[in-house]
Amino acid sequence: MPTELLRVDANRPEPDAIARAAEVIRSGGLVAFPTETVYGLGANALDAAAVARIFEAKGRPANNPLIVHVAGAEETRRLAAEWPEEAELLAARFWPGPLTLVLPKRDVVPDIVTAGGPTVAVRAPAHPVARALIAAAGAPIAAPSANRSTQVSPTTAAHVLRGLEGRIDLVLDGGSTPGGIESTVLALTGGTPRLLRPGLVTASEIESVVGPVRRPMGAQDEGAVALPSPGMMRRHYAPHAPLELAAGDARERIEALAGQGVRVGALVFAPLDAPGVAVLVMPADPRAYAARLYAALHQLDDMRVGRIVAEAPPDTEEWAAVRDRLRRASVR
Ligand code: TXA
Ligand code: MG
Repeated sequence: MPTELLRVDANRPEPDAIARAAEVIRSGGLVAFPTETVYGLGANALDAAAVARIFEAKGRPANNPLIVHVAGAEETRRLAAEWPEEAELLAARFWPGPLTLVLPKRDVVPDIVTAGGPTVAVRAPAHPVARALIAAAGAPIAAPSANRSTQVSPTTAAHVLRGLEGRIDLVLDGGSTPGGIESTVLALTGGTPRLLRPGLVTASEIESVVGPVRRPMGAQDEGAVALPSPGMMRRHYAPHAPLELAAGDARERIEALAGQGVRVGALVFAPLDAPGVAVLVMPADPRAYAARLYAALHQLDDMRVGRIVAEAPPDTEEWAAVRDRLRRASVR
């Protein structure tokens, strides 16, 4: 199928473009759209056949559940069988924004959305284009990141087209997504809230609202724990070239590989004079680094490097989400 591309103003999306995209969603089609984290690939969450097309377009395993995007807490309560106090407090503090809550589901949510499981993941995105689309469609929108399964998430419409052109109906091009990495995923399914995926909202920020949070994926914990959901597979978010996190001196490793004739792409914190190496100097601030990370990986893929070496970010909580994504990109 030809994929239609519509430019929209990121802050004040044109009503015509939104109406067109909403029509595609209502008629069971697929629309890629910007959120404040990455581009999502959306379908009407209450239409099982439409949601099945998401899995097909992405080549996504059926056992990996989707996040449902809604306007806010009120809409969530129509999808979730329980709305605990923690959910109320967290939604009030972080929605709209990059926090996904996993809650017991109601029957209205098709099994395909939750991979047959008893819980549903929900978030209210902050991006004006996402919000306008949800409102115009008049339905909750199931949307994973708009990339082929296991590939790097898209932060521009061009990234989306690279993986999904001809496989989806429409892309709303609202420019680069500001956050750059996916939302924080938190399970509120009884007992202590559990962090399933670190993201732009940190565990400490969540704890400041609801008290202790279980962090099954602590900094030292290289995926050794049982995977809490299939989407937490370790190999994920991977560029085409193998990526390695430099354990010690990144410069030494980069020079050694380059000396062996490997075309190296380097993600480093300070400029590096290494002939033949594609050096990308990354921001020293964790949010700015996150905003830039996937675009950098896409860029190095385009340059056809044979290996990517990333200098390890500091082992502190504010870097947890970036370290998590680098780690997942590095598993082969
Ligand atoms: O920022 C984001 O979260 C982006 C934008 C588009 O909203 N979406 C995104 O979706 O990253 P996706 O499908 O790439 O990642 C969703 C994650 C997966 O790790 C999935 O396993 C997990 O959320 N998830 C979804 N439903 C779940 C559930 N019921 N229980 C546990 N984990 C769930
Ligand atoms: Mg994804």
